[in-house]
Amino acid sequence: MEVLILENKTNSEKDRCLRQKASPVKNFNEEIRQAARNMMDAMRDGKGVGLAGPQVGLLRRIFVTHADGDEPRVFINPSIIWTSQEQVSIEEGCLSLPGVYADVKRPGKIKIQAWNEKGRAFTLEVSGMLARVIQHEYDHLEGILFIDRVNEAKREKLLSKLSKQAAGREKSQKISR
Ligand code: NI
Repeated sequence: MEVLILENKTNSEKDRCLRQKASPVKNFNEEIRQAARNMMDAMRDGKGVGLAGPQVGLLRRIFVTHADGDEPRVFINPSIIWTSQEQVSIEEGCLSLPGVYADVKRPGKIKIQAWNEKGRAFTLEVSGMLARVIQHEYDHLEGILFIDRVNEAKREKLLSKLSKQAAGREKSQKISR
């Protein structure tokens, strides 16, 4: 399962996928369970702590998390039903934006309702890293990336770093060919 990397180009199929709002999962069937397993594998391979459907070209409302000190979790059709007034600044990265990081301010505590891959509903009230990962992954379902949550100047900087890296990757591919 390939993780899509933002190209930041017009007419990019990958960007369109990363920038689109995902639609709800309708059936809790073997297909969605398999997708969840594949996403877990891709997240582990990428050494990530979370991965959302749109990042693997699946425009469905599903994401997986494995925050430090937490168990692996699957969230399907999630809704964030409460967020704390208090906000915290934590550094974020993203498998779709490799090599760039930025401090992002978000609520420190949230309550989320979702279904797992077996179709069982659950509610979680969390803070710390898991609350952070969940909010970042939830954003992916809305087509929002963490670079959208920093100021314009910072975003430009991150995007230019990304395109330099992409050019570097292309170059090294050509050489190795
Ligand atoms: Ni991400």
